[in-house]
Parts: sequence; C-alpha cells; structure tokens
Amino acid sequence: SWSVGSLLLMMILVRARATVKVTGVVGRAVSLGVDVPPGFQVRDAIWRYLAPTEELVATYFRGSAETLYQSRFYGRSRLHSNLTLEIGPVELGDSGTFSALLVNTRGQTETRVLHLAVYEVVSRLTLQVFTSESSRSGSARVCEVFLTCVAAGGTNVSYSWGRTDGEMLSMDKHSLFEAGLVLWAKLDPLDRQVSYTCTAANAVSRESATIAPWEHCQREAGMSYAVYDYRNILLIAVPLSVLVLAVAVFGLLLSWKCSGRKPLCELNTPAGGT
Ligand SMILES: *[C@@H]1O[C@H](CO)[C@@H](O)[C@H](O)[C@H]1NC(C)=O
Ligand SMILES: *[C@@H]1O[C@H](CO)[C@@H](O)[C@H](O)[C@H]1NC(C)=O
Repeated sequence: SWSVGSLLLMMILVRARATVKVTGVVGRAVSLGVDVPPGFQVRDAIWRYLAPTEELVATYFRGSAETLYQSRFYGRSRLHSNLTLEIGPVELGDSGTFSALLVNTRGQTETRVLHLAVYEVVSRLTLQVFTSESSRSGSARVCEVFLTCVAAGGTNVSYSWGRTDGEMLSMDKHSLFEAGLVLWAKLDPLDRQVSYTCTAANAVSRESATIAPWEHCQREAGMSYAVYDYRNILLIAVPLSVLVLAVAVFGLLLSWKCSGRKPLCELNTPAGGT
C-alpha cells in the first residue's frame, strides 16, 4: 500500500505541475503562454477552452493564426506568433480550463493545460462600529463593540483583522463572526488609543481600513452615533443565524429520514390526516 500511496502522490504532483495556474482581473487582458520544449519546432497549435464547455478558441496552422471561432472569446482573443493566447478584457465567467495542443514538424504532439481564475478587485471598504447603549452611557468601565468590514466590490474576498499596536487579538476579548466580516471586541480604558485594521483581500488585490473604536464608546446618548446601535447588528446577525440554524435542522431531519431508522422516520410523519 506504501507504493500505491506514493504512486498516487507522484501522479498528483505530476498533474499539479502540468496544470499552469493563471490569474486574471475583471476588465483587463490576460496572457496564456506556453513553454515550448527546446528543439520542438511548432508547425500547428490548437487552443481550446475545455471547461465548463468545450470550445475552439484559436489555431495556428503553418504560420497563420486564426481566432475567429464561435467561442465565448470571439472578438476578445489574439494569438501571438510565440503561441501566447491573449484574452481581453476578461470577465468572471471566463474562469476555466484551457488546453494548447502543439504539433511539431515531425507530427509529434505536446499538450499544455492552463487554469484561468478571474477575480474582481476588492474595492470600497466600509468599516462600521456598533456599540451597546450601556457602553455609550459613560457609566460602563468596559465597552463592547462590534466592528463590521464590508467590501462593496471584489470576489472571493477574505477578511482579517489586526491591531495597530501590533498586539495579537486575544481570544478572551475578541471574537470573529460571519467569516471575519464581524469582529467583537471588549475594550477597557487602557485600549483608548487602540485602532483596528480590517484587511480585505483576494488573489489579485488587497484593501485595508483602520478605525479607532474607543471614540464611539462613552458618548452622550442622543448623538449621531446612536444610529450605530447594538441592536442594528442584531437585525443582521439574528436572521442570518436563524437561517443557518433552519438549514442545519432541515439537513439533520433529512439525514435522519435517510438513515432508515424506522422509529425516527415515523416520528417525522404525521400519524394520519384529519
Ligand atoms: C509573446 O508575444 C507577446 C506579444 O509580442 C508578448 O507580449 C509576450 O510577452 C510573449 N510571450 C512570451 C512567453 O514570450
Ligand atoms: C471563488 O468564488 C466562486 C463563487 O463562490 C467559487 O465558485 C470559486 O471556486 C472561488 N474561487 C476560488 C479560487 O476560491
């Protein structure tokens, strides 16, 4: 089994090396290049888009390039004499797998597989602070805040938080919710100067924004910050949690039904119509 395992691993490594990953940005051009082995004199080349649907994109036969095929890249593709396929501007839907078949003057072939992943850049980051009413009243010694960070633009965005004083976010005073979109922090007067930075990033871009939450604590009621009420975040978080819970319960019920355990199945079905 050791040899089977290592063989599988080798196959995975070979596959991983064979597929070139190319990253594209929405609205810009992307170049898909091929490395031609030394001594391999290319006579013909065929560029295809394999997945999600197979389409012919470009060909190169005896010195002339052709890209006018009915593919999703019609009018957006150029094949250079070095066999680099240029597509632009790219869209999110262009993400997929390409293959280039190279044929040399002796009729031998080489195949190159490339995976294109297109992303939209992260933009328009909004940071907000939500405090509880007791935190704003001035009587509390600690202030609990929810910080939310939302990028209006960008795909496959992941969020992370840091303190500008470089300290780690201790788990007893911080929690993350909604995959990092929401940070809960418990501040005491020693944290008066502390600022938090939210970083929203994807494979092609990164945006940061910084906020000092303490100034939103211990304000007199009736100020404009009353808008950022603790309860406002509950308006988002509660329905979301209810939805997640409902999906989870539904999934559980479904798996009980499917597990074939009769008593549980009967529990779920009404005893009879009325
Ligand atoms: C291929 O040619 C294009 C256009 O001349 C150039 O932009 C690109 O860098 C070239 N690619 C390689 C791999 O040489
Ligand atoms: C980006 O997000 C889309 C949609 O959620 C998903 O299909 C795709 O696999 C993600 N890409 C990466 C590289 O994570």
